[in-house]
Amino acid sequence: MQQQKLGPHMAVAVEGIDLATATADTQAALVDALHDNLVLCVRGQKLPPVAFRDAMARFGVPVKRLQLASTPECDEVNIISSEDRDELGDGKKLVNGASWHTDDSFMREPCSLTMLYGVMVPSRGGDTQFTNMYAAYEALAPEMKARIDGLQVVHKYQSSRQTNRVSRRPESEMKAMPEATHPLVRTHPETGRKALYLNANRMEQIVGMERAESDALLDQLIAHAIEPRFQYRHVWRQGDVVIWDNRCTMHKANADYPEGERRLMHRVVVAGTAPV
Ligand code: OGA
Ligand code: MN
Repeated sequence: MQQQKLGPHMAVAVEGIDLATATADTQAALVDALHDNLVLCVRGQKLPPVAFRDAMARFGVPVKRLQLASTPECDEVNIISSEDRDELGDGKKLVNGASWHTDDSFMREPCSLTMLYGVMVPSRGGDTQFTNMYAAYEALAPEMKARIDGLQVVHKYQSSRQTNRVSRRPESEMKAMPEATHPLVRTHPETGRKALYLNANRMEQIVGMERAESDALLDQLIAHAIEPRFQYRHVWRQGDVVIWDNRCTMHKANADYPEGERRLMHRVVVAGTAPV
């Protein structure tokens, strides 16, 4: 398997593989590459929705997400598009994932992996940025590691600290999304490594800490984690399937492509377990 490092400390690309027909050995090598590099880009895929879902099912159990539209062909394949609007809210354009986040952290069992497939990519812009949360944790001063050890954070779909709008959801759906409490430092269940677990858009407050102090500490940790030295920026090519591990990365969308150009992504997430 031909691998090409994309960033100095994270992200790898592979070419010459069809995800729909990869052998068991190739599949195992892809999973290893993902664990070692946190972000895996498989170039040149041609996957209609059902085939995309089935290929992703080899990495985990695909789960439905109601917060995003789905393709008519397959419920588990969501759509991220330049045409996205806040349908139940103000009807205006909505950029999903415009601030630094990890997927589903408002849920008690957030997805482990997200797979995004570049169906239509703009001529320029629309990159996805990633940050390495193992490296961000490891680079903390020993005093900070000691301070945050054991702290828990409340995450919410609609956090009062949110930095970008999220789509308005029906009342019934909101009720089915109670807030979740997660550790600030989590241990990856497969690699055993520790990572900071932050979400600029969903974290509400550190449990048992006064609001002002909690805000200051969360702001400080986010600012640290998104320093350029921990980042990789993915420039999309049509046919890329980019798989990232939400347990040790954050990511961010950029809606900076030319007005009038389309960006269409298909998206699958696979089930994860409660962070510990
Ligand atoms: C997502 C997401 C970023 C992008 O699919 O979870 O945040 O660049 N996407 O579209
Ligand atoms: Mn996201």
